[in-house]
Amino acid sequence: MGIQFEKKRGLFHLTSNTTSYILKKTDDGDLLHLYWGEKLRDPDIGYILRPSLRAFSPSTHTTNAELSFDTLPMEYPFHGTGDFRNPGFTVRYHNGAAATELKYKKHSISKGKAILEGLPATYTRSDEEADSLVIEMEDNITGISVELQYAVFNKIDAICRSVRLANRSRQSMYIENAMSCSVDFQDSEFDMLQLSGSWIRERHIHKRRLQPGSQSIESKRGVSSHMQNPFIALVRPDATEFQGDCYGISLVYSGSFKAEAEVEQFGSTRVTMGINPFNFSWKLNPQDSFQTPEAVLVYSNKGLNGMSSAYHQLYRKQLCRGSFREKTRPVLVNNWEATYFDFDETKLLEIAKIAGNLGIELFVLDDGWFGKRDDDTSSLGDWFEDRRKLPEGLDGLGKKIRKLGLDFGLWVEPEMISKNSELYNEHPDWCLNIPERRKTEARNQLVLDLSRPEVCDWLIDTMSKVFSSTNLAYVKWDMNRNLTEVFSIAYPADQQGEIAHRYLLGLYRVLEHLVKKFPGILFESCSGGGGRFDPGMLFYMPQTWTSDDTDALERLKIQYGTSVVYPPFTMGSHVSAVPNHQVQRVTPLLTRLHTSMCGNFGFELDLEHLSDQEKDIIIQHIKLYKEIRTLIQFGDFYRLSSPFENNLTAWMFVDDRQSEAVLFYCRALAQPHAPQEVIRLQGLDADKDYKLLNYDSFFEVMGYKEIYGGDALMKAGFRVTPMIGDFQSALLRFKA
Ligand code: DGJ
Repeated sequence: MGIQFEKKRGLFHLTSNTTSYILKKTDDGDLLHLYWGEKLRDPDIGYILRPSLRAFSPSTHTTNAELSFDTLPMEYPFHGTGDFRNPGFTVRYHNGAAATELKYKKHSISKGKAILEGLPATYTRSDEEADSLVIEMEDNITGISVELQYAVFNKIDAICRSVRLANRSRQSMYIENAMSCSVDFQDSEFDMLQLSGSWIRERHIHKRRLQPGSQSIESKRGVSSHMQNPFIALVRPDATEFQGDCYGISLVYSGSFKAEAEVEQFGSTRVTMGINPFNFSWKLNPQDSFQTPEAVLVYSNKGLNGMSSAYHQLYRKQLCRGSFREKTRPVLVNNWEATYFDFDETKLLEIAKIAGNLGIELFVLDDGWFGKRDDDTSSLGDWFEDRRKLPEGLDGLGKKIRKLGLDFGLWVEPEMISKNSELYNEHPDWCLNIPERRKTEARNQLVLDLSRPEVCDWLIDTMSKVFSSTNLAYVKWDMNRNLTEVFSIAYPADQQGEIAHRYLLGLYRVLEHLVKKFPGILFESCSGGGGRFDPGMLFYMPQTWTSDDTDALERLKIQYGTSVVYPPFTMGSHVSAVPNHQVQRVTPLLTRLHTSMCGNFGFELDLEHLSDQEKDIIIQHIKLYKEIRTLIQFGDFYRLSSPFENNLTAWMFVDDRQSEAVLFYCRALAQPHAPQEVIRLQGLDADKDYKLLNYDSFFEVMGYKEIYGGDALMKAGFRVTPMIGDFQSALLRFKA
């Protein structure tokens, strides 16, 4: 495992447990991509390339007219000198030309993994965990130098890629496109899988067969977005959840991005992913450099679950940081769907009191506690308590909440400014805006110009004061609109293409500062639910409010789709009232509980409205959750039956010793004269016997046993329990 370079054959062989990634440096100094897939013993597979003359593909090598950049598999393709496919990057040079030809210059191999200055990225805790390779390429005519950065994790099948572009000339140049990675596949027999949707419908799984030409997903919104997640996978058409080749690419970035698969004339496929080149440019002065975000590549021949499992491990252990990486997450109650803006201290304490009696551990005060915010038309930026609602301020409320036995957490939306605010009166020019145009509002708010260091400094200072005002255990960091008028009065005309990315760099700096300064606070990111559920945010905040949609049935799809890349311990999931506020559906309390218990469990409803019987059920389930949460939050997750394809959704959790498992299933609609359904479990030890802990007279009457062979549960399966009515679920525990 690791990274080998064979000088004679010019081969770079990057290997993890089960994966090989192979590059070839030719005698001409080209860097070709030979292979990415199941591990090979010998990387010498250059024979698969067959140079030949192809009409309309220019001869790019004087040594051999059959060689063309247009048909060779390029490791980081360039534009304007023969390759007509999508480039990895495009730079416009001082004379207006945009043609480049990169040649190998040098490389270095080292232990460990370097950090990406100012950007979120996966990391190692010891140098033994990963090996790194940096290959420097250059174009000696223009002076552009390109550093291709790779890291291979030894125990997790992931390869991280990023790129640094540097200007070694004496004149400024403009980067118009800088992808984090490009991969050429030999063929195009793939489905492209993406996680797409909308607000309250995030990360639904969509698949399409690749076709000649380009197919892409992107965000132009300045955020990763509800609509497309920064992730795609190419999967073989016969791949299932548990077998077949899957190639995932996930971008550690929270802004506008693009992922594109281009099937060219001879049937090969080029996949590129990175910052969206749309409306992007970056002025690179002499000796300056530009660092792209990181792309995380995961190959698995064990189907989608195999791929997800690598992402889960990597993002849980080597992307999330801070003490909460290892700590179990508290059961919380959030007052948003209980009160919206209409609350005072008395109301909050009533909710907190009941919460304490139910076994809830954390009370979260959501939007509406600051300025004069009685609705969403004002006060963002005025981060001081509204004494009408909180006469003794945050600290007074916090103390009372703690007295009730709960920790206290707070909602903020720091990146925003309301026109109707003291901050706006003082600094009307602190928002992103184009002076002569309308300032477009969304949810009645504007976006602070975080490309400006002084605005970021103010934000660090202001949030530090809020976070120190009482003993906060948790912060929910919200962001409720996308970027318009992306322009900053602080930058000249030829740097306006940088603003969207500079906004992110500013935000990342603010977050880095705050999470380091407040290590005891558990941060949860949010953007109208899951509008910024991306690896970039997880680097700073180890959990995300998965969606504003709290309907149990909708959550099946959202949580299932999200799990393709992100582990359950990153997903906030709350029980809310019925009829559900987003879709008006009425689902049973048990189903709402079970679905929410499969992530970071919480409640978001007026607890005062619960009947005694409902309270009893909730008490039992909170107790149960506390018993199983280590397994839910840190165990291995397996998707068993998809809500996108079946009436029955099923998934399960298994601990790393295979001694405990939790099986969840939910049947959407009752079916007349329904077929018998069996779920085959995964991840158990075939040689162990497992006791069904839920076993009681119901199971006995229905003909179930108490003890099952692990092999039987995985091969013969478990018969789905009879359920009456729509939207029914079960949560079953097995113990070895
Ligand atoms: C959007 C979030 O997703 C909600 O949970 C809530 O915090 C509101 N914002 C508050 O304005």
